[in-house]
Amino acid sequence: MATAVTGPTGFLGLRLVRALLDRDHDDSLILLAHTGSTAAIDRLSCFLTAAGAGPRRTEELLRRVRIVDVDVARPRLGLTEAAFEELADQIDVLWHSAASTSLSGELADLRRVNVDGTRHVLELAAAGARRPVVHHVSTAFVVGRRSDPVIYEDDLARPADGFETDYEHTKYDAEVLVHEWSAATGRPAVVYRPSILVTDQPPRPDLPEQTLTAVTRAIVTVAALAVDRGLGTGPRDPGRVQTIRIVGNPRASWNMMPVEDAARDMVRIAQRVRPRGVATFHIVHDENLPVSTLCELLESQLAVRMQLVADYPRDPTAIEELIYRIPGFPRYLEHRHVFDDTRARTTLGERTSDTRVDRDYLLSAIGAATAPRTRDALGDQDLDQALSERLRAALAPEGAR
Ligand SMILES: NC(=O)c1ccc[n+]([C@@H]2O[C@H](COP(=O)([O-])OP(=O)(O)OC[C@H]3O[C@@H](n4cnc5c(N)ncnc54)[C@H](OP(=O)(O)O)[C@@H]3O)[C@@H](O)[C@H]2O)c1
Repeated sequence: MATAVTGPTGFLGLRLVRALLDRDHDDSLILLAHTGSTAAIDRLSCFLTAAGAGPRRTEELLRRVRIVDVDVARPRLGLTEAAFEELADQIDVLWHSAASTSLSGELADLRRVNVDGTRHVLELAAAGARRPVVHHVSTAFVVGRRSDPVIYEDDLARPADGFETDYEHTKYDAEVLVHEWSAATGRPAVVYRPSILVTDQPPRPDLPEQTLTAVTRAIVTVAALAVDRGLGTGPRDPGRVQTIRIVGNPRASWNMMPVEDAARDMVRIAQRVRPRGVATFHIVHDENLPVSTLCELLESQLAVRMQLVADYPRDPTAIEELIYRIPGFPRYLEHRHVFDDTRARTTLGERTSDTRVDRDYLLSAIGAATAPRTRDALGDQDLDQALSERLRAALAPEGAR
C-alpha cells in the first residue's frame, strides 16, 4: 500500500513520516517534498538520526521512501499532466500536511499555499484510480476569534467571529474546501486539528523549528534590546527591572501538544477511523497551560516583569508598541479556549497525550530562543527601525534568516 505525504520535511511532517514508517513495516511512502527546498532526504535522514534511529535503522527507513518534488501552490502541484496522473494512480492514502505556517505571512502568499495548495491536493486525490482517503492537517485555531469557552470538534469559525491572523483564516478556508470536496465527490476525509505543537527536544539548525521558539525569540529579542537601551517604563537604569504591560487575561490559557504525541495519535486515529463524510479530530493536550506560566518563564529569563492589563496602555513604551507588532501573538493572551476532544478520545480509547507540558518542558522548548547580543550591531541606526528589523528577522522562517 502506498501512502503519500505533503509537507514531509516540516516540524510536524517529519514526525508524521516517522510514525507512518513505524506503523506499517511493509508500506512505502511517497514524500511530496517542496520543490527547491533543502534536499528532503537529507532533512529526513538528519531528523531520524537526531531522534536516535542509528545508521542502520535510518538506512532501512530511507529505503522505504520515494521523493517526488512538488509545489502544492501550483496547478497539478507543478507536475506535467502525465506525471500528475501517474502519481495520482499510485496513491492509496494521502496525507496533506504542507502549509505556509508563517504567522506574519502576507495573505496572498498564505492563500496560495494553504488554500490553492489544498485544492490542488484534493484534485490529486480525486484523480487517483485507487480513490485514496484524504487525511488533512488543519489547526485547532480554525475557530478564529469565536468566543465560546469550549470548542467542539465540529465547530468552525462563524463569519462574524473573524480571525487573529491571516494564517488562521487560510487554514479555515482550506478546511471548508475539504468539506466541499467530500460532499461533491462522496469521498471520505479525515481532518486533524492540532493545538500549538511543541517539543522539548534540542533544536538543530538543519531542522524546522517550532512556532513557540520563533515567537519567544521575537519577544526575548525585543525585551532584551529594550532593557539594554533603557526603553522600559522609566529612565535608563541597568539594574532596574522593566515592566512590560500587555493586554491579556490573567486567566487565559493555551493548549500545547507535544508534536511527537500528536503525530502518533494522528496515525493511530487514521488506522481506526472509517468516516462516511468528513470526521474531524482535535489533537490536543489534556490540560491547558495558564498564560501566567509563560509570563513567569519570560520573567525568569529576562530582567522584565510582565503585567497583563485590561486595556492597551495610553502611554505605551517603545517595547510595548513593538510587542504589539508581533502578529497575532498579543491577542492570544486573551484566549481561554478549551478544545473538546471527545471524538479523538473515543477513537483512540486512551489518553491522547501522557507527556506533561509544564514550566520545565517549556524551558527546554524555548531554550533556543536566546536573546541576541544587544550591544552589538545597532550602532547609530534609528532605534525604532533597528528594533523593527530585529523583530522581523526573529519572526522570519528559519531559512529566511
Ligand atoms: N506547528 C504547529 O504548531 C501546528 C499547529 C497546528 C496545526 N499545524 C499544521 O500542521 C501542518 C504542518 O505544520 P508544520 O509545523 O510541520 O509546518 P512547517 O514546519 O512550516 O512545515 C511546512 C511543510 O510544508 C512544506 N511546504 C511549504 N510550502 C510548500 C509548497 N508550496 N509546496 C509543497 N510543500 C510546501 C514545507 O517544505 P519546505 O520546508 O521545504 O519549504 C514543509 O515541509 C500544517 O498544515 C500546519 O498548518 C501546525
